[in-house]
Amino acid sequence: MGTPATESVIRVVGLGKSYATAAGLFPALKGVNLDVRPGDYIAIMGPSGSGKSTFMNLLGCLDTPTMGEYYLAGENVAHLDRDALAILRNRTLGFVFQGFNLLPRMSLQDNVALPLVYAGADKERRRARAREMLAKVGLGQYAESLPSRISGGQQQRVAIARALVNAPQLILADEPTGNLDSHTSEEIMRLFGELNAEGITIVLVTHEPDIAAHARRQVKFLDGEIVSDHLTEHAPA
Ligand SMILES: Nc1ncnc2c1ncn2[C@@H]1O[C@H](COP(=O)(O)OP(=O)(O)OP(=O)(O)O)[C@@H](O)[C@H]1O
Ligand SMILES: [Mg+2]
Repeated sequence: MGTPATESVIRVVGLGKSYATAAGLFPALKGVNLDVRPGDYIAIMGPSGSGKSTFMNLLGCLDTPTMGEYYLAGENVAHLDRDALAILRNRTLGFVFQGFNLLPRMSLQDNVALPLVYAGADKERRRARAREMLAKVGLGQYAESLPSRISGGQQQRVAIARALVNAPQLILADEPTGNLDSHTSEEIMRLFGELNAEGITIVLVTHEPDIAAHARRQVKFLDGEIVSDHLTEHAPA
């Protein structure tokens, strides 16, 4: 046995993903190594098509790798059956998407409570916890509203509240500010900064150097490989 994997929130070893296409197998991710420590705040950057979303989807257990190993909270996810993986994923991480992905016919409160339904919490507990998380992101007064009644930045806050509802140690976000103007993006980044200060580990993808500057560590992808991994200069305190 080497270093215990339990020390890392995320540890990937030689992780790769090839997609089957009409032209044959396309290697979108070519065997990357990364360790994410508790409390890390990482921005993943790199040109379009460099494999960032492919990587994030593997980290979020939304897709399976074609090579390598992924340890999430010390567990080799390949060794878990469907149910065990769903439980680990639900307890450990929250995923935030560029497009918010809220259910349009459900109140904000019910959207935020959804992961608790899968976790088996009772109705009263779901309601109380969802309201608590909406208040945390500054939207407590909109609990009964539908997503269409609030702005894009507010919708992304709701999506973050939903990601937080199971008290995960890790937030994964793929271009969370990609659909937002720069002012709203800064507000969302302030929220991520607060969550990280509370000890939540954050890995987010962005194209914007200004957004990446909020993270403490920057990882760059190119052609399915990690080409640099360094601390942010003048990192925020
Ligand atoms: N389901 C798929 N089938 C085939 N090829 C795919 C699939 N998903 C992604 N790819 C290819 O894999 C490569 C990496 O895609 P990926 O979405 O991970 O890039 P990205 O870095 O997230 O890009 P962007 O910045 O545009 O979001 C691209 O060449 C893409 O066309
Ligand atoms: Mg992408």
